[in-house]
This record gives sequence, structure tokens and C-alpha cells, in this order.
Amino acid sequence: MTEVKTIQKANIDIQKIRTDFPILSRKVNGKPLVYFDNGATAQKPQQVIDAIDNYYKDKNANIHRGVHTLSQEITVCYENARSTIQKHLNAKHSHEIIFTSGTTASINLVASSFGKKFISKGDEIIISAMEHHSNILPWQVLCEEKGALLKVIPINDSGELLMDEYKKLLSDKTKIVAITHISNTLGTINPIKEIIELAHAKNIPVMIDGAQAVPHTSVDVQALDCDFYVFSGHKLFGPTGVGILYGKEKWLNEIPPYQVGGGTIKTVTFEKTEYADLPLKFEAGTPHIEGGVGLAVAIDYVNEIGLSKIAAYEHELLIHATDALQKIEGVKIIGTAKNKASVISFVVDGLHPFDIGTILDQLGIAVRTGHHCTQPLMKRFGIQGTIRASFAFYNTIEEIEEFIIGLNRAIKMLK
Ligand code: ALA
Repeated sequence: MTEVKTIQKANIDIQKIRTDFPILSRKVNGKPLVYFDNGATAQKPQQVIDAIDNYYKDKNANIHRGVHTLSQEITVCYENARSTIQKHLNAKHSHEIIFTSGTTASINLVASSFGKKFISKGDEIIISAMEHHSNILPWQVLCEEKGALLKVIPINDSGELLMDEYKKLLSDKTKIVAITHISNTLGTINPIKEIIELAHAKNIPVMIDGAQAVPHTSVDVQALDCDFYVFSGHKLFGPTGVGILYGKEKWLNEIPPYQVGGGTIKTVTFEKTEYADLPLKFEAGTPHIEGGVGLAVAIDYVNEIGLSKIAAYEHELLIHATDALQKIEGVKIIGTAKNKASVISFVVDGLHPFDIGTILDQLGIAVRTGHHCTQPLMKRFGIQGTIRASFAFYNTIEEIEEFIIGLNRAIKMLK
């Protein structure tokens, strides 16, 4: 069958992998769950669930704050998790890995701290037309506070960045470029290496929003030479409420702390505070300890399968779904870039995405509908919203076939 051929080609044991994800065997509305909302959050393997369970059963204590055994043990565990993430991103130092609560928190940190130090009236910040609100709003707020200007790289009708326009936007006034690696709505994989090189030629730092990229591709921050790279744990098969900010040591040393409080200091008097070295300078308060530990387990899990195998398999899913969707009358795919991850957004002539999503849900199929926190992008395409199917490595060709049958049924019911 098609599915078996795909598995052999991509060389991963998909059926075995599926047994690692308990939720995949549940039913929704009496039907086997087909989970195509991985762009919103990914499901968790048993290994991650066990790590969190084990943390509370056997390891719970605060980190960096105790001489007692439990505190010492979990501190080692948490710092080992940081090292796992460092190695995964090929960061030069483990103190360049800052734990946050997610991509949004990481971007807010960069915008706020970098902004305080380096942004003044008349300066310019470059983002793109396909950014998630989380990579628009923090910069917009900063621009409002400082009297700086937000510049937006336009895209073509396929959902690809217009690189010539980007080159024109880069100027002596540009102080930072903040760009998504992979669009959450369109699936477009942006040429971030080239984007970074062009900015660096003018000594402009670049922050990459990797929220949608890390589940699909490996990232080498040294090879990319990006200044900041951010992502969330929960889209990478890890726990919610934990995320990462990678920053080059030089920048993290130069920018001020974002939130301050317990854990971020060397000495405090009522007159003055001396802040801790990296990474603690940016980690105020008790962190999401089990989140960090669980994220490292998720990363080990993904690496055991291999991100290049995952990318190859997901590409098969993408091609299969794209071909099938294109055959349905009235369906228009939004986002047809040459270089795409396994995310497909589409609209159906005359039908509201919510109505389609609701019928698909009745059939046990989970997709995301709406503007996907990218309202300016919706405006660019002249639409209110889309239906989005986003695939992970545990999805199958058979599930895509179920989805296509369900979609045809929904269209028939609603027309
Ligand atoms: N940013 C997430 C998504 O695209 C929530 O669905």
C-alpha cells in the first residue's frame, strides 16, 4: 500500500512510533483521532510523559537553591537538559541557552532587552509580511515606545519573501531583523542563511523565530551565524510552558535583563544589584523545571529517529496531501512556495473555514481554522482565514486519505 511504500522510502518505522504517542489511539466523536494540528502544538511521546511523571514522583525540588540532595540532583538534571539543547542547536556555549516560557516570551525578551539598549528614535526594525503576531507585536510596541519604524518585507503570491525588496530595506537605520524560519500559516521555509548574511554585511543582527522549524528540521546556530534563535518546547513534542532563547554570548552579555528577581543576581543591596552571569541573568524566578527536563527528553526522542528522516517522510505527506487537495473543485491552497514544510493552508470557495473545521472535527479530524495569528498575512491574500492541516512524523498517508474523504463530505454537506 502507499503508506508502506512511503515508510520504506523514508526509512522510519511509523507504526512503532505511533505506539509511543498514547493520545493517537484515542477516539474523538467516536472516530479514531486524526491529529493534523501539529503547528498549534504537537503530541507527546510516552518518554516525555514519563519524564514529567518521574520528576514529580522522584525528583521534585527547586534548582540552584539548595545543598540538599534533591535540589542538587535536579539542578544537575536541569543543567544537563540545557546541554542537550545546546548540542541540538550546536550552540558554542551552554550559557547561550536561556530557558523561557515559549517562543512568545523569548521574542518579548529580545525586543525588550535589545530595544532598551540599542533602539532609538528613527531606527528601523525589519520583519516580514508572513510573521506570526508574536513576532510583530513585541516589535510594534518597541517602535511605539522608542519612535522607531517597523519595516516589512513583502511576499509574492506563492508566499515567498521578495528578497530584492529585503535588500532595499536594509539600511544604516536598520538595527535588527526578526524573521520566521518557517511560516506557521503558509509552510514557507525562508532562506534564513541568506537573510542573515545580507544583514551581517551591514553589521545588523538577526533574530530567527524557529517555532515552526524545530519540529521539522535541524538547526545549527553556528553555521547559520544567527544572533538569536527562539522556539517553544510544546511544538517539538515537549511540554507546554517551556521555550528557548538562543543568543550569541556577546549579545546576551550586552543586553540588560528582561525580568529581574530571584536567581538573577550575584549581590543585592537596597542601593544596587549586581546581576548573575549567563544564563541566570535572564532566568528570574523558579523556572518550569520539569518542562526543561521534558524538552531534553523530547529532543533525544526526535534525534533518535533523525530529523533528516523526519523531513523526508513529512515531505511525502506534504506532496500527497497537496496533490489530493488540488484535485478538489473549489479548493485553493494558500502558500505554494517552492520550499515548504509539512503545513498546508487552504480555502474552499464560498465556504467558511470554521464550518469545514467543525464538520471535520465530527469525523475525528483536528485541523486549525481561522487567521492563525497572522492577520496581516490574511489581509495580504485578501481572506479572513484558512483551514490548516499541519503534519508531524507520526501522521500517515492513510490519515490524509481520511481527511480528504472528510473534506469532500464537508463540502458536499455545506454547498
Ligand atoms: N502559533 C501556533 C499556530 O500556528 C499556535 O497554530
